This record gives sequence, C-alpha cells and structure tokens, in this order.
Amino acid sequence: MDIPVIDLAPYLEIAGRLSGGPADLPGQLGSSLSELCGEVSRVLRETGALVVKDPRCSAEDNDRFIDMMEKYFERPEEFKRLQERPNLHYQVGVTPEGVEVPRSLVDEEMQEKLKSMPNEVQPATPKGPDRKWRYMWRIGPRPLNTRFKELNSEPVIPEGFPEWKETMDSWGYKMISAIEAVAEMAAIGFGLPKDAFTSLMKQGPHLLAPTGSDLRRYGQEGTVFAGYHYDLNFLTIHGRSRFPGLYIWLRNGQKVEVKVPVGCLLIQTGKQIEWLTAGDCMAGMHEVVVTKRTIDAVKLASEQNCSLWRVSSTLFAHVASDAVLKPLGHFASSPLADKYPPIRAGEFVEQELAVINLKGSKAES
Ligand SMILES: [Fe+2]
Repeated sequence: MDIPVIDLAPYLEIAGRLSGGPADLPGQLGSSLSELCGEVSRVLRETGALVVKDPRCSAEDNDRFIDMMEKYFERPEEFKRLQERPNLHYQVGVTPEGVEVPRSLVDEEMQEKLKSMPNEVQPATPKGPDRKWRYMWRIGPRPLNTRFKELNSEPVIPEGFPEWKETMDSWGYKMISAIEAVAEMAAIGFGLPKDAFTSLMKQGPHLLAPTGSDLRRYGQEGTVFAGYHYDLNFLTIHGRSRFPGLYIWLRNGQKVEVKVPVGCLLIQTGKQIEWLTAGDCMAGMHEVVVTKRTIDAVKLASEQNCSLWRVSSTLFAHVASDAVLKPLGHFASSPLADKYPPIRAGEFVEQELAVINLKGSKAES
C-alpha cells in the first residue's frame, strides 16, 4: 500500500487569505480544497503518516542537506565526539550510536502488547540501544519567559563545515513551514479553526535532529536502527531518505513499508496530536530496520561510489512547552477525552522521557 501524495500548492496559494473559524472556512476554501483538507485529516487518522509535496521544499534542498550530513557522519568517531555534549543531556550537538534507547526495549506494557500482535506484523526485536547517530539543532525562537527552560547552550558547529548553520537553518525552516501548512489543513479537516494547532506550536522547542546509520558497518538484514516506538512531539517531518527501511503501523494494525517519492516529504503523527484530538488521531508507531531493499540500495550506492550512511533529515515539531495539551474543540466531548487530561506540553515531554531515562539512557523522541 502506498500512502497518497498530497500536493500542498493549491492550499498554499490561498492560505494567507483565509480567516475565521470552521463555520466560515468551507465558503472560502471551495469544495475541492475542503475535500483536500478532509483527506489530510483522514490519512493522518488512518495511517499516522502523510506524504506531501511542498513547492518550497525542493529535492535539491533535501540533497544539499543530506550531502552535508553524509560528509559529517563519515568523519571519524574521534572528530564527531568533539560535538558531543553529554553534560547537556545531548540537547545540542551529536548523540553517538548506542545512546538512544527504543521504548519497546524498556516499556513493559508495550512489550506485552507486542507479544499479542500477529507474527506477520510484529516489529523487529531490538537487543539493545539503537545503532544510529543523531545531531540536534534547534530551530526557531524560544520564549523569553517559560517554566521549562531548555539547558542554556550554544549551538554546536563542527569545524570544517562553513555551510553548516545556513544549511541546517534553511532546511529546518522550510520543513517547519511544510508542517505548519499540514497542521492548518489537518485542523480544518478535523473541523477545528485553521490555527487550532499552529497557534500552540509558536515558540515550541522544535528540533532538527537528523540521524546517521552506518550501513557499511551494520548492513546485515534485520539490524535495528530505530526500534519500534512513537514520537513524543506533535508532528515529525523528514525529507526523503536515500535508503529504505522505515516501517509504520496503520491504525488497523497493518505493517507498511513507507516509500517516499523523490521531492516529497514524510510526516508522522506524534503523541501531542493524539492528546489534542482525544485519540482520534493516534501517535504513529514506527521502526527503521535493514531489509532486503535496504541491502539492494547499499549495493547500488557502493557501485556508484556513494555514501553508505543512511541519513534521515528528521525534524520534530512540538507544541510550545508552556501551552496546555488537552482535547480541542469538539474533541473535548469525545468519550475518550478523560484519557487525555490537561497537562502542560513541557511537563508531558518530561514525564514521557522519564519512562526511558529511568533506565539510565536517552529516549527516542
Ligand atoms: Fe521516531
């Protein structure tokens, strides 16, 4: 099953002129755009993922970003360790492989659930921490006054990469813009005011957090780069990766390999959108493993002398830490709303991370 590609262009053309709440929107949007917004919310609800094309995020932009990250991850471990900030809990700079722990490894409740899943849709069993590196780069402004101050730390820029800041910021901001358009369309599709989600995202602790997985070293079928988990944030977005291996679980339990066409972006639902919709849109479960298709892509890449680091240009978009997560609009009267009591987004993230940090390591976000 391929997830349909949603072209954001027709929405972007009129987005700036839209005003008002759900009652006024259908008239301003016309029937085809109303349907498109309905499609966005329906696909997010049924699959936990969405593939979009945003004319502002080109395949060349994605290539420029991935080329730089491949060059970085290919540098020796001693070099990359210079960008490591364990004293700042890896909130900026590089996180080496073997630090992030997938939730399925430590969450007993989740392990029980996994055992009850039919064999053919069971995720790979991680045997330890994830075998992937990650780089954390903050995107967007932070609030001056907040109860949840991030550790006060300067961004880390590796030596010998003069293009670093510009490349990270420009790709990061472009992906945030794509998320904002999707968040507006989804809100409209869910029957909420168009800024129901985006107003909560302002000054959120958004993170550009690309991962690097070394397929030369860990190219065996079945190797787990990111064990089965969900994301803690609102929505996650990635550019197209050069190597396949990402699996998602649909709401109906089906396990699906994600194929992102060239020039498109992949969006996944996190726990915060689940909270805001009282579970109408659930956080999408996913994993990244080496498969036969990954190995085929590795063969092709080695023949063409290309990098064998699998880079994913992940960006985690968050609800602002001081904003309150609670079911919005008509979702407040959902029979499931009690499962999602009001909580500040910053506190929610801290609680979620504690589940895994208690075991002494860093969580998948
Ligand atoms: Fe994830």
